[in-house]
Amino acid sequence: MQFDLSIFNPKARPLIGLDMSSSAVKMVELASDGKSGYRVERYAIEILPRDVIADGNIANLEAAAETIKRAWRKLSTSTRAAAVALPTSHVITKKIIVADGQKAEALEVLVESEANQYIPFPLEEVNLDFQIVGPAPSSPEEIEVLIAASRKEKVEDRVAAVEAAGLKPMIMDVESFAVFASLDLILKQLPDGGKGQIIALVDVGANVTSLTVLRDGQQLYAREQAFGGNQLTQDIARLYGVSFAEAEADKRRNALPENYESELLQPFVENMALEVSRALQFFFTSTQFNKVDHIVLSGGCAVLPGCDESIALRTQIDTIVANPFADMVLSDRVRANSLLADASSLMVACGLALRRFDQ
Ligand SMILES: Nc1ncnc2c1ncn2[C@@H]1O[C@H](COP(=O)(O)OP(=O)(O)OP(=O)(O)O)[C@@H](O)[C@H]1O
Ligand SMILES: [Mg+2]
Repeated sequence: MQFDLSIFNPKARPLIGLDMSSSAVKMVELASDGKSGYRVERYAIEILPRDVIADGNIANLEAAAETIKRAWRKLSTSTRAAAVALPTSHVITKKIIVADGQKAEALEVLVESEANQYIPFPLEEVNLDFQIVGPAPSSPEEIEVLIAASRKEKVEDRVAAVEAAGLKPMIMDVESFAVFASLDLILKQLPDGGKGQIIALVDVGANVTSLTVLRDGQQLYAREQAFGGNQLTQDIARLYGVSFAEAEADKRRNALPENYESELLQPFVENMALEVSRALQFFFTSTQFNKVDHIVLSGGCAVLPGCDESIALRTQIDTIVANPFADMVLSDRVRANSLLADASSLMVACGLALRRFDQ
């Protein structure tokens, strides 16, 4: 079996967490601080031209590499090693239970034959990796193994873009795993660390809004819908007669005329709350669950003024804006205010940067 790039590579450091999402290239570099703490060394966000990355696919490799290069220069680091991630929809993951105490080669053979059964492509076209999760819940003689598989071309596209930008891809993770690593840090901020609580992670990005419901690290439900900040950007472009790129920059800089708030922002925030409440209703009607204890709101739209209150009001659920850096120390280079405004959109980049500390 060929492990071109390991999803579970324990030995990479120092490391940049590099997220290539549809709206921007985002980078985070963390260092350890004290016994169990982290320090945010630096971070950078560089907006991507539209349609360079669409549905997780790199449509324009040159433009993607250029943007990665610009983000890296902005980051101002000497570190070139990067942890990147595949979109969750590009990866098939499966947990299998196998007998404990097997030799590595035997385990590989088992994983491969198991993968053969449910991966709808020839194995030669697939990057396959696995990790032992721990003892199986049902029996002490067995272990749980997590398998992750993705089309080679998806992996190669990302690697090519990162390498063309002069960086070294060391780890290929999965976006959802990176998000969960960041979410773990956020849940520590909740009473009792969020133990036993039903958590709805709502991510409102540029194009997509996703709802993931979890309890004690177990995913109970996940669903995506087409809603995001690009709609607001488009409305800004239309109302003020500017290009999409200008509208996007003005929105992020908060440099819009006075009537922006009442004409566009407030209606968008109302819509956002409605979308979230509908997504939750759908979760309730399609599962046996009938409550959520906390909403964690992430994605770039989570910083729109008043959206957490609107969502809390409409859903009657405690809502917090995601900030995985809340308990971290900041280096002198990082401005606290800027990081606070960007933190909710850095879940993937932060989770990837945390891979530096894998044992
Ligand atoms: N400071 C800000 N003020 C207002 N809107 C912002 C701000 N920062 C980011 N956004 C908006 O958030 C959206 C980008 O969010 P995010 O970075 O989470 O999306 P993405 O992960 O690239 O997109 P998707 O998840 O849809 O693929 C954009 O619409 C952007 O305009
Ligand atoms: Mg996103």
